[in-house]
Amino acid sequence: MSNVGRCAVLILVGAASACDPVTSLVEPEQPAEEHRPVSAILGHEAFLAECANCHASQDGFDLAFFSFPDSTIVRRALGHVDAPTADDIVAYIRTLMVDPVGRFEASFQPGGEVLADDLEFAMRLFGADAWPSGMTTADLLAIDPTQIPVAIAFPRWSVEESNVDWMPDGPFPEGLLRQSQNAAGHALARYRETGSDEDLRSAVGSLRWAAYNPNSTVAPCAPTPKARFRPDDCFQARRWTASLIAQHMLRSARTEPMYSGNHDAWWGVGHAAFKSMQNGQSIENAEKNQVMWMYMGWAFAPQNHSSWYLAGPLLRKQLPRHATFHSLRAQVSRVEGGGQAYSDLDAAVFVSPRSWVADVTAFSLRHLIGRIESGDVPSDEPTVAIVLGGRALTQLEWARRSVQTARNRLYWKLEAEEYNAVSTLFERVLELLPSQ
Ligand code: HEC
Repeated sequence: MSNVGRCAVLILVGAASACDPVTSLVEPEQPAEEHRPVSAILGHEAFLAECANCHASQDGFDLAFFSFPDSTIVRRALGHVDAPTADDIVAYIRTLMVDPVGRFEASFQPGGEVLADDLEFAMRLFGADAWPSGMTTADLLAIDPTQIPVAIAFPRWSVEESNVDWMPDGPFPEGLLRQSQNAAGHALARYRETGSDEDLRSAVGSLRWAAYNPNSTVAPCAPTPKARFRPDDCFQARRWTASLIAQHMLRSARTEPMYSGNHDAWWGVGHAAFKSMQNGQSIENAEKNQVMWMYMGWAFAPQNHSSWYLAGPLLRKQLPRHATFHSLRAQVSRVEGGGQAYSDLDAAVFVSPRSWVADVTAFSLRHLIGRIESGDVPSDEPTVAIVLGGRALTQLEWARRSVQTARNRLYWKLEAEEYNAVSTLFERVLELLPSQ
């Protein structure tokens, strides 16, 4: 390469002084790099090479969006790159056109605030510590769980030294991306090219499958055999996927629900935390992670998942009113033909505060009666998760059982007089359900 050519290349990377003999004479000890101007272009390249895999974006959106100060970006960058490159990254991040939020903003936190406790939740929502006796299905459906403030703090983007944040500790594992002819790798690359909702949806689907695939020996979330489930790896892979979706939504200031599978991916982070406890290999802050991620995922897709997953932990966290709201709001969202809405009745009776339970049960049973009378009855299809005596229960069998269990629970929870008042509603539901 000619001298001119060499200098041109060096100037391109910002090291002009190396081509300047006068400067070299004056400051002979100065290392050349310290003189090169910072370069946003190099900053982007460095971000792609050194940061993008963990931060799940090609452009460093999160670093600008969450208002991380220059000093913090430099401090964190120095764990991965040298000082001049850290400055380049800062320069690059400052070129991004984003409308930032506060550094400690909890994204998607309903109403933008965290309530003090369970009682405040009820007072704010219903104006009283009671389930409103006149509540109808339509009233409850009109309450949007993504907007109703709760006493559950949603994850912040980055919390150093803690796993109660969005940021996964590492990249989505290369080995998982490459499985099944690079299925997830391809889907992700396509999403990166277009940034479309549709390609996000298929990338998320492929990433979730890559982490879950029961036929793979490396999928950390594989359901069976039990020994193959690796709690922290599963939690991390799911957080990575979750943070990809979050950035997609935050970029476009989108607050309305997307395709429900995307929100299930948020729920799935909580599910990894739950399974870690169930398997006796609890990850850090397991229950806290379970509750916040499941609630966040559910709020955007309230028709999905058994309410027992979340109602139980909410109750243990002294949030029985939240748990009751969750069970019943899930119930009114259920799709037709399933036994799920009946299981929600049982969950609601189980978690409801003693002083609420009569109104809660009456609401829930009236809802079920309305369903059946409008032609929505549980089907003869087998359930996926409920197996008794070696055989999957049908949706109808599950529904009947749930109603009976709820009734027994209530019998022990209430005085005779209160019990008798709702007992006729139980009778009515059991009468209306087709016999098996
Ligand atoms: C191996 C994965 C990984 C890589 C690579 C990585 N980060 Fe991070 N980064 C994280 C995690 C995880 C967090 C969340 C905080 C924590 O857990 O420490 C984070 C948080 C941050 C924060 C916020 C810190 C705070 O104060 O909350 C900044 C800024 C940051 N990273 C910048 C960078 C830059 C710039 C690069 C590339 C030079 C980079 N990171 C590369 C994993 C990574």
